[in-house]
Amino acid sequence: MTIHSIKAICCIGAGYVGGPTMAVIADRCPDIVVTVVDLNEARIAAWNDPDLNQLPVYEPGLDVVIARARGRNLYFSTAVNEAIAAADMVFISVNTPTKTKGIGAGQASDLRWVEACARQVAQYAKDHTIVIEKSTLPVRTAVAIKSILDTPQQRSEVDQDVPTFSVLSNPEFLAEGTAIRDLEQPDRVLIGGEDSNAVEALATIYRHWVPNEKILRTKLWSSELSKLTANAFLAQRISSINSVSALCEATGADVREVALAIGTDSRIGSGFLSSGPGFGGSCFKKDILNLVYLCHHFGLPEVASYWEQVVTLNKWQQNRIARLVVQRLFGTVTGKRLAILGFAFKADTNDTRDSPAIHISMDLLEEGAQLAIHDPKVDSRQIALDLKQSPSNPLSDLKGEGTWHFAIDVAEAVQGADAVLILTEWEQYQNLDWSNLAGLMRAPAWVFDTRSVIDPAQIAETGLILWRLGEGSG
Ligand code: UDX
Ligand code: ADP
Repeated sequence: MTIHSIKAICCIGAGYVGGPTMAVIADRCPDIVVTVVDLNEARIAAWNDPDLNQLPVYEPGLDVVIARARGRNLYFSTAVNEAIAAADMVFISVNTPTKTKGIGAGQASDLRWVEACARQVAQYAKDHTIVIEKSTLPVRTAVAIKSILDTPQQRSEVDQDVPTFSVLSNPEFLAEGTAIRDLEQPDRVLIGGEDSNAVEALATIYRHWVPNEKILRTKLWSSELSKLTANAFLAQRISSINSVSALCEATGADVREVALAIGTDSRIGSGFLSSGPGFGGSCFKKDILNLVYLCHHFGLPEVASYWEQVVTLNKWQQNRIARLVVQRLFGTVTGKRLAILGFAFKADTNDTRDSPAIHISMDLLEEGAQLAIHDPKVDSRQIALDLKQSPSNPLSDLKGEGTWHFAIDVAEAVQGADAVLILTEWEQYQNLDWSNLAGLMRAPAWVFDTRSVIDPAQIAETGLILWRLGEGSG
C-alpha cells in the first residue's frame, strides 16, 4: 500500500483546539506546511502577534511551541479558500455549540459551521484531499460531510479538475490548561475511518512523536462515539463526587478523605475525583446533551435519562453553592460586597465557556450582590459578555440591584467584602496572605472555598470563617 504523502495541512478554525493542535503538529513535523485559517480576523491577528502574551489562547507552554514553528512551517491566515486549495489534508476544527432553537434545541449540536466548512472544502479543494473531523460531533456526521463533499460543485472554468475525498474522524482529547502536554504525550490518538490509506497517512503524521501502539485505528462511528462517551464518563465522575460532597456536608464527613479512600482502589483510580463548583468548559455539557439526543433518536429513553442526570446534578451543585452563600450571610446578600476569585472554568486557561463562575455569579447578582471579580487571565470585557451586564463603579449607590466590577488584584477584590468565594483553582490563590486580607474585609467575614485550595491552617487566627465544599461540621 502506498501511503498518500502529506506536504500541506489546512486547519479550519483557530480556536482552543485548532490553534494548539496545529502548533504541535507543525513543531513535530517541520517537513509539513501547516496553515490555520479562521474567518475571525482579530483572532488571526492575535495568533500572528509578535508579542506572545497576546495569543488568543492562554495555555502553559504554547508560546514556546509557537515561537519555534510560526513563520517556519506554521502560518495563521484568513485566506481560507487558498489554504484549502493548497492542502492535501484539511482538519475541521470549528465550533459546534448546542442548538438554541429548532429540532433538538438544547441538546443536539448546531452543525451549521461544520456544514459551511464542508461546502467550502468541496468547492476549493484540489486533487485527493483527506478531510478530518476534529471538532466533537454527533455520531454519523462524517457521513454527512462525505455526502456534501461528494456532491458535484460548480467550479470555475480554469479549474475543472474534480477532487476526491476521504473523511476521517480524529477526535481531540486535550484538556485546556494542559493542552501542550496532552498533545505531546497523549494517552492515545484515535483515528476512525474506512479508507486505510487515509488512516495511515494521518497515523504517519502522529508517528513523528507518538508511539505506534498508542495510535488506535477504529471504525468511523466508534471513533465519533468514543469522544462523546469519554467526556460523559469523565463528567459522570465529577457529578458523582459532587453528589457525595453534599452528603459529606450533611453527615460530618469530608469529601477529600472520601475521594482519597475510594480513589486508592486501583479499580476506581484517583483521577477526576475533585469535588468542586461543577464542571464547566465547552465540552462536557454539550457532549452529554448530544449523547442524550442520540439516545432519544435511537429509541433508548432510559439510557438518555441516565446520562441527563449527570448534567442535572451539575446544575444543582452550582445553584446549591450560590444558595448556601446567601444563607450563611444571614439570608441576604443585597448590597453586600462579595469577592469572586477566579472566573475561568478551570485553572491555567483564559476560557470561560460554561464556567461555574458565570452561573454562581449570576445567581448572586440576581440576589442583589455587589461582586468584585478577579481572574489572572480573563479580562473585564469577557466577563461582561458572560454576565450579560456591564461593569459598574464599585462605589455606586446601593439600589438593591446586583452589580459587578473587575478587580485588578486580590487585595482590591476583597476590600470591604463580607465574603470571598474561590471558584477557580489558580495557583496564586493557594498561598494568599490571609492575615493581611482579613484586615481588609468587613467582619464577620467568610471564605467559601469551592476548590479545596486553602489549607485551614492558613485561615486559623485570622478571624475569618472558612467554609469548605464537602466538609461537614457534625
Ligand atoms: C475535557 C476533557 O478532559 C478532554 O479530554 C476533552 O478533549 C475536552 O473536555 P476540558 O473541558 O478542557 O477537557 O477540561 P477538564 O480538565 O476535563 O475539566 C472540565 C471541568 O471539570 C472543569 O470545570 C474542571 O474544573 C472540572 N473538574 C475536573 C472537576 O470539577 N473535578 C475534577 O476532578 C476534574
Ligand atoms: P474550539 O474550542 O472547538 O476550538 P472555538 O470556538 O475556540 O472552538 O474555535 C472555533 C473557531 O472556528 C472560531 O475561531 C471560529 O471563528 C472558527 N470558524 C467557524 N466557522 C468557520 C468557517 N466556516 N471558516 C473558518 N473559520 C470558522
